Amino acid sequence: MKRYELRCIACGHVSPFSLRRIFCERCGDLLEVRVEASEVFNREKLLGRVNSMWRYVELLPDFRRPVTMGEGMTRLVRCERLADALGVRELYVKLEGMNPTGSFKDRGISVGVTVALEAGARRVICASTGNTSASLAAYAARAGIECVVLIPKGRIASGKLFQARLFGATICEVSGSFDDALRIVLGRAEEMGAYVLNSVNPWRLEGQKTTAFEIWEQLDGSLGINVVVPVGNAGNISAIWKGFEELRDYGLTDEVPRMIGVQSSGAAPLARMFAKGADSPEWVESPQTVASAIRIGRPINWKRAVRTVRSSGGSIYSVDDHEILEAMRLMATTEGIAAEPAGAAPIALLKSGVESGLLPRDETYVCIATGHHLKDPDPAHVSWNVPVPFEQYLERVTGRS
Ligand SMILES: Cc1ncc(COP(=O)(O)O)c(C=O)c1O
Ligand SMILES: [Zn+2]
Repeated sequence: MKRYELRCIACGHVSPFSLRRIFCERCGDLLEVRVEASEVFNREKLLGRVNSMWRYVELLPDFRRPVTMGEGMTRLVRCERLADALGVRELYVKLEGMNPTGSFKDRGISVGVTVALEAGARRVICASTGNTSASLAAYAARAGIECVVLIPKGRIASGKLFQARLFGATICEVSGSFDDALRIVLGRAEEMGAYVLNSVNPWRLEGQKTTAFEIWEQLDGSLGINVVVPVGNAGNISAIWKGFEELRDYGLTDEVPRMIGVQSSGAAPLARMFAKGADSPEWVESPQTVASAIRIGRPINWKRAVRTVRSSGGSIYSVDDHEILEAMRLMATTEGIAAEPAGAAPIALLKSGVESGLLPRDETYVCIATGHHLKDPDPAHVSWNVPVPFEQYLERVTGRS
């Protein structure tokens, strides 16, 4: 048996329960799902369960048969060569690109679309930097409901736009940034009768918290680690932390990781807030970065993210675009592991952080590679490796002309 509560992240008020509710009835801030389960999984119970995030069913909203494509249980790959190159003791990369549509969003969208059906919705909507639209389009297709996505015109990666089109979503282009698109979605969804599936929706985060459960299982319960997560709208880092907190609250672990966020310096309101020691962020009106997935100037979940890093003893930092592209190259060429630019940002932070002494070398790091590299196959990202005529190569290796 499970009991759910919708609690405000700002004033703590518990709003009357409704699957359609997103904002606190008292102060209008965002809500968090609190789940009280009479029994929970443990390592033994998990043996032989379904190989997807739905194995953690005791702490997931299984109001009805889930809309699932086997999301989650992505590989956690130990990277010795990359750890050596970065100069850290131990490094793992969690390959979220292995999810059905190639990003971690599938976790939250699987739960979100399941809840949307339970709430009676026949139309779902989101604003997106790309991956949410790809994921929502696919899961809505599987559920047989309509999907509308709002994207910043000309600013999303080609692979993601291709996916949203292929899965049959109605794609509306908005001039301006992701933040403008999200404002429109929040303002218009109700009159459209559409269920909002951005990460303001508390049920999205319930899916995404399973990343923490998997890391716990994959590392045999050793959670004295640092988890490094790219931060855009700041939902994912908060969701992963919620998962670790639940493991602790249910007595499944004593230790919890330090959560470290990373933004790109052209879209870094939270990193700047932490650098200045300020209490609230200054928004970035025109965010710029090669990592289009985290090109966000007003992270709507900023309060959750601040609480996450403060309670876990971490922080949020920034890296430059050239460091992100270099991290993509380094991951790919030392380990054969790749990610879209946002997904490589944690490695970029490890590199600069260890070099500058900001991050200790003698620790274990888990970097969340949030999206698949083929999402954003921009030739500019591989400008360091240009194809050559075979004869030219032969001359080089044989020394003959
Ligand atoms: C690949 C990738 N990484 C990171 C993020 C940032 O996640 P969040 O907005 O939850 O902070 C996104 C969000 O679009 C993403 O697509
Ligand atoms: Zn409130």
